[in-house]
Amino acid sequence: MPHPESDAWFARARAVTPGGVNSPVRAFAAVGGTPRFMAAGEGAWLRDVDGNEYVDLVCSWGPMLLGHAHADVLAAVSAAVARGTSYGTPTTTEVELAEEIVGRTPVERVRLVSSGTEATMSAIRLARGFTGRDVVVKFAGCYHGHVDSLLASAGSGLATFGVSTTPGVPEASAAQTIVLPYNDRSAVEAAFAEHGDRIACLITEASPGNMGVVPPEPGFNAFLAETCRRHGALFVSDEVMTGFRVSRSGQWGIDGAVEGWVPDLMTFGKVMGGGFPAAAFGGRADVMAMLSPEGPVYQAGTLSGNPIATAAGLTTLRLATDEVYARVDEVARTIGTAATEALAAAGVPHLLQANSNMFSIFFTDATAVPDYATAALQDVAAFKAFFHAMLDRGVYLPPSAFEAWFCSAAHDDRAVQHVLDALPAAAEAAAGAAA
Ligand SMILES: Cc1ncc(COP(=O)(O)O)c(C=O)c1O
Repeated sequence: MPHPESDAWFARARAVTPGGVNSPVRAFAAVGGTPRFMAAGEGAWLRDVDGNEYVDLVCSWGPMLLGHAHADVLAAVSAAVARGTSYGTPTTTEVELAEEIVGRTPVERVRLVSSGTEATMSAIRLARGFTGRDVVVKFAGCYHGHVDSLLASAGSGLATFGVSTTPGVPEASAAQTIVLPYNDRSAVEAAFAEHGDRIACLITEASPGNMGVVPPEPGFNAFLAETCRRHGALFVSDEVMTGFRVSRSGQWGIDGAVEGWVPDLMTFGKVMGGGFPAAAFGGRADVMAMLSPEGPVYQAGTLSGNPIATAAGLTTLRLATDEVYARVDEVARTIGTAATEALAAAGVPHLLQANSNMFSIFFTDATAVPDYATAALQDVAAFKAFFHAMLDRGVYLPPSAFEAWFCSAAHDDRAVQHVLDALPAAAEAAAGAAA
């Protein structure tokens, strides 16, 4: 599909913004080519500045559970805008949104912020303030936003203290972070055995989606919660991506609620903002009581709980009913199954991994991808060819082999069929490029 307007805008963008984008993965660096500049979204569809239309399987990286421009969300936002855009005072919608979050999850208290990064950053500060300890444990391949201490990765081996993976993060900050392989209980046990009395918290994606979809092995989150409890560390479950998406109560609704354990702190974002900058962290009342102004751990925000963002988020959550989740799950299952059938027919080695409506395809010979080291072995050339063939046929996939695919309740049968029709040719393109 021709895209001269996107080309022109990308040139203008690069002249004024690093890489031409305001968040790196948008730049298509992993797949090459010009990122499409989107002009409008409606339901399951996006339209770019050249007038090309795409079925959207990114959904703003998760938030758009109801699809784009949902009439009720737009009405709530328009009504809120008409009342003014920000007051810097408490508002009733903030309370209602907090009540909705508390009603769907095990958190007892919640604080609203503006991005997932702010949520995880604040949760970690709070965990450190509460425990009086500094060390944070995270897993390789889990992304928690661009928080200094969480932008660490480890070499091989157990319980390796992180080195920063980006200039600008002080080594001293990364050195407070232990990075472990995901789904690896013995690595967790070894790290806690050696450093347990220095560990403030363990943070994990409740079900990782930032290395592709890598669900926790059965009982893994329960094991993490129990290990933290034994060592006096807090268990921080990052549900920025999964919260209110994989079920009405997020990943906790799938495992914790069934198995009977509760994280000490949780972080949320994406769906709860309905496409606006809203996020949250919350948890045990005694831990949250450490937070300013009730307690000594400082945290604040000029636009936290913004009335427009909370109106969009509250309306989205209220509309996120069991029927919505049933539809999104069905769409994800249909597209995931069809993708794997098309790739199998074309002889492309691949693996579909899914957790309810979040799924991704690994271009790999592996029979399971339990961690980042395995995810990293993908044939990215095959993905790249697949991605561009889908894009040319009007399907907008995440522009990286290491991302979850997202769909919405607005993906109707016509949109789903459009994706299914594009798959065979894209699978052939992947076969042609496979290593
Ligand atoms: C699990 C998880 N945590 C935190 C973040 C950071 O959220 P934000 O991009 O809103 O800062 C993300 C973003 O993708 C995420 O997926």
